[in-house]
Amino acid sequence: MMKLIKLAKKNFLSSFDMSKEEIIHIFNIADNFKNNDFDIKLEKKVLGLIFDKSSTRTRVSFQVAMSRLGGTTIDLNPTTSQIGRGEPIRDTSRVLSRYCDVLAIRTFNQADIKEYAKWSSKPVINALTDTEHPCQALADYMTIKEEFNGFKNVVLTFVGDGNNVANSLILCGALLGVEVRIACPKGYEPNPLIVKKAKETYTDKNLLKITNDPNSAVQGANVIYTDVWSSMGEENKKESKDKDFEGFTIDNHLLSKAKKDAIILHCLPAYRSKEITDEVMESKNSRIFEQAENRLHVQQALLACMLSS
Ligand code: CP
Ligand code: NVA
Repeated sequence: MMKLIKLAKKNFLSSFDMSKEEIIHIFNIADNFKNNDFDIKLEKKVLGLIFDKSSTRTRVSFQVAMSRLGGTTIDLNPTTSQIGRGEPIRDTSRVLSRYCDVLAIRTFNQADIKEYAKWSSKPVINALTDTEHPCQALADYMTIKEEFNGFKNVVLTFVGDGNNVANSLILCGALLGVEVRIACPKGYEPNPLIVKKAKETYTDKNLLKITNDPNSAVQGANVIYTDVWSSMGEENKKESKDKDFEGFTIDNHLLSKAKKDAIILHCLPAYRSKEITDEVMESKNSRIFEQAENRLHVQQALLACMLSS
């Protein structure tokens, strides 16, 4: 039976909070959970979930992961708690971390999740902020690893908005040494600080490319990834973003420029006919639902590592 290692950092707020070795360890544990080959019990442990934005996958996969580990979850949001009435994060966090053993939080500003972590006596997990989605990136790279038996010579092209999902793909890709190409319209490039940190981490900084041309970016790629054009909190930008992202739809024409056996990933939810066509989503190249399933396995592994010692 595999031994769980304790993660060096208490919190998982960014993809950069784990080392390459820790990420690989999470994949191995997740693999064992997926194959029903690993049984650890965390009875009486409680995960507190705080969702300031909507969620299907993250909410349910965390709840199921905790339940499979023998623990329970409490699901909070601004409407049903005092968070919506403006109770300061430093108070909410100190109180919740006295009841719960770990907190997973989905909110807007990265600074807010850092504030939760600062005041929490228990580990805090980023369940998506405007800046990062590190749990998503773990599931994404686990799906890629399963498909290609590792990461050697894998080229991942992300076509879309250079925000939270792209940022975490960049950071996790840098740690794993995967070639990552980001194709986004002008003005939608990923966070420059994240790009800088990633370039400093890659042994070959040319493995990260940012471009405004989706056609050249998908040439010879093994993985084509996209995300919604308008993220949660950007509902009022929908019209202008739809215009700005014209030409960035993953369709059969774009797909034909990638490797023949290229796989398609999407973090979901998807807007068919915007960032991806129905045809591509339902094609034999799509691994989108395997990817969604892996959210459960990587998060179960993450919770097991965080809570078992
Ligand atoms: N991919 C993802 O985080 O999905 P949800 O918004 O449904 O949690
Ligand atoms: N970029 C999207 C990801 C959803 C999982 C958003 O933030 O809404």
